[in-house]
Amino acid sequence: MNTAEMILSDLRRGGYVSGQEISDRLGISRSGVSKQIKSLRERGYDIDSVTNRGYRLIGEPDEMSQKRIESMLETLYIGRPTELLAEVDSTNDEIKRRARAGARQGLVVIAERQSAGRGRLGRSWTSPLGTSIYESILLRPELPPSQIPCITLAAGLAVCRTLNELYGCGAKIKWPNDVIIGRKKLCGILTEMSVEDNMVSYAVVGIGINVNNREFPPEVSEKATSLRIELGKQLERSEIAAHLSNTLEKIYDEFIMCGFEAFREEYLSLCATVGREVEATVRGKAVKGVAADVLGDGGLVVLTEGGEKICVGAGEVVVQGIY
Ligand code: BTN
Repeated sequence: MNTAEMILSDLRRGGYVSGQEISDRLGISRSGVSKQIKSLRERGYDIDSVTNRGYRLIGEPDEMSQKRIESMLETLYIGRPTELLAEVDSTNDEIKRRARAGARQGLVVIAERQSAGRGRLGRSWTSPLGTSIYESILLRPELPPSQIPCITLAAGLAVCRTLNELYGCGAKIKWPNDVIIGRKKLCGILTEMSVEDNMVSYAVVGIGINVNNREFPPEVSEKATSLRIELGKQLERSEIAAHLSNTLEKIYDEFIMCGFEAFREEYLSLCATVGREVEATVRGKAVKGVAADVLGDGGLVVLTEGGEKICVGAGEVVVQGIY
């Protein structure tokens, strides 16, 4: 057992353990003890400290397990295999490297931490250790690139259905694919593709879900939430990841057979954007109106005050009452 594990086994007995007691038992200085406590906290251990009483273990991190994920899979190809990495630059970039090396459709890469997590529109995706799910899925659809936005919608629906089935948490979708609870963002999706001869050679669906985060950096705290914040308890990320692969495979198979129509009704019923006032930019022009529908190519139909019907293809849409 190393020093950190010895401290953990003391704390696991329950109640407060004084810093002096730990220092005497392990033969390390008091500042050595507080250094160890700091690094345990960084690994996700929730340790309370009270002057004159010491330290108390409140919660242990939720460690993901490849075996546990694979034991819950009901899929033919998605998540087979599922690879769990301690750290990577971006799971999307890792999948691209694997795709170029010939990996098969369905490969899922999950990381405990990303050093260069990426979001949509060139933004970065902050990816701290041990609290969220950062995963990417390799797909090889035999489709023209114009159909890829629908895969993004399918992935958003898969996350939403998964979370509602597991926790009944009332998750909704902000078009095209943010998953929200109330007016806050719980999950973002970044789909990327490689095209050859006007056909998709592979698509990467990158999904970031805030699961056990207790707080967010000030720049996003207004807009972001986690399942832990919403439900008030720690959840098992492996269970979510496995259930997500199961759900995504069902929706994706139906999409490949029948197109967007296969899941249009369910998508619209969960889409918080439709029916609300929105603002978007289309070819450099500001568009304001009510979101009315989602089309087979994944575009959002906006009815303007002047009675015009405009299709918004991509980019950022501000939805009144959400963000
Ligand atoms: C967004 O801007 O809303 C999309 C965020 C997508 C983040 C995920 S985390 C896993 C995968 N790897 C990345 O670098 N990005 C995506």
